[in-house]
Amino acid sequence: MIQRVAIVGAGTMGAGIAQLCAQSGFSVKVHDPMPAALAALPAKLKKSFDSAVLKGKLSTQQAERAYHSVSAIADISDLTGADLVIEAAPELLALKQDLFEKLSAICPDALLATNTSSLSVKDIMARASGKERTLGVHFFNPPVAMKLVEVIRTGDTAP
Ligand SMILES: NC(=O)c1ccc[n+]([C@@H]2O[C@H](COP(=O)([O-])OP(=O)(O)OC[C@H]3O[C@@H](n4cnc5c(N)ncnc54)[C@H](O)[C@@H]3O)[C@@H](O)[C@H]2O)c1
Repeated sequence: MIQRVAIVGAGTMGAGIAQLCAQSGFSVKVHDPMPAALAALPAKLKKSFDSAVLKGKLSTQQAERAYHSVSAIADISDLTGADLVIEAAPELLALKQDLFEKLSAICPDALLATNTSSLSVKDIMARASGKERTLGVHFFNPPVAMKLVEVIRTGDTAP
């Protein structure tokens, strides 16, 4: 069962996916190695949750609860315990390969998903351990508004 979600990358997609997961009831950790990106996350989320309340999509209480269920994580090792990892880091193959090599060790029991737009999911997962738990989940922008998510299997992904 998925309860704890880790998002890697706090940019446009990472912040949006974090909001979506939080307002869907998950506990969310967001990691970004860039201090400025991590520092900007709370204000970005606050603005977006406030807007959801103004539009009547969430109650004030729902927005508050969701906002407080997201934590910003500077050290990638602190993502331990996640049930699902969604990577939304820059679209660079080597960077994503490095990340999944690390993430597969830090989160040995998690599903490992990339939000890549154009790279091969199988290539991205080349150095990950436990390839049966790797997949693509391609959200569209903005994730909170777009109903479509592509789920991508590699030849290794378990049913
Ligand atoms: N923007 C879109 O419309 C869109 C839609 C679907 C999928 N995508 C995909 O989502 C991914 C992220 O795109 P984005 O638009 O959110 O990019 P972005 O540039 O807004 O955010 C990327 C974030 O990753 C962080 N980052 C840099 N190095 C990192 C590392 N080593 N580990 C973790 N985080 C790191 C950056 O600091 C930044 O905050 C890409 O793979 C992109 O192809 C983007």
